[in-house]
Amino acid sequence: MTAVPSPNIWHWPEVYERENRAQDAAGAIWAALREAGDWSGADVVDIGCGDGFHLPMFAATARAVVGVEPHPPLVRRAEDRVVGLPNVRVVRAGAELVPLPDASADLVHARTAYFFGPGCEPGLTEAMRLLRPDGLLAIVDLDASRPPYGDWMRADLPFYDPPSVERFFERRGFTLRRVDTEWRFPDRASLAAVLGIEFSAPVAARALAVTEGLSLPVGYRVHTLRKPGGLLPPGRHR
Ligand SMILES: C[S@@+](CC[C@H](N)C(=O)[O-])C[C@H]1O[C@@H](n2cnc3c(N)ncnc32)[C@H](O)[C@@H]1O
Repeated sequence: MTAVPSPNIWHWPEVYERENRAQDAAGAIWAALREAGDWSGADVVDIGCGDGFHLPMFAATARAVVGVEPHPPLVRRAEDRVVGLPNVRVVRAGAELVPLPDASADLVHARTAYFFGPGCEPGLTEAMRLLRPDGLLAIVDLDASRPPYGDWMRADLPFYDPPSVERFFERRGFTLRRVDTEWRFPDRASLAAVLGIEFSAPVAARALAVTEGLSLPVGYRVHTLRKPGGLLPPGRHR
């Protein structure tokens, strides 16, 4: 397994926890995911689950949830988080090779993890193996084309090309939905700490200086792909 380094959550998990709590204050990403395919009573796999922040939300209505995470300290934190949730477990693995049976999931979800565009093909193949016919793969990532957050991202990643990443998913048949969210912080110290783990020092300082108050608009991309169904339409025969 090849873990893609995630300095934010690997080195500052407590600050990343504050970030996750601030993110998507109005639940816009959750609403977009539910519209794409509700997971009530379903089997859900969260790839690159980090320390499991999103597992309880899935577990509230899913039949079963598996968090998949390659970084051992985060596997332990995720396991601690889901103690007391009998329908959730966490496995140590990368997106490229997940120790779960073929056709065992209805929803495979990944948020800001591994599926960053070219290079994630092995994970896409693996996700399709895990899905049942008609199952849904949902990839959530930051939209670097949306100001102001996207401008800060591109300032630190000058070679990152949002249109080419979008084309990568589009060519593979994904539907793209852009979702506008609000990150809402309890205080300026939390906002500064989060900007400090996401950006280089000069970009974080600029971002803090131009952000008034306690909230920040942040755009996301939600790419979804449904695995083809197993049944032929009525009247059609092989
Ligand atoms: C930015 S974090 C996001 C964590 C979580 N999805 C969340 O939203 O809180 C990215 C995660 O992807 C994990 N990761 C790195 N390489 C991976 C791989 N090859 N397959 C799956 N996950 C990977 C990292 O260890 C990290 O936990």
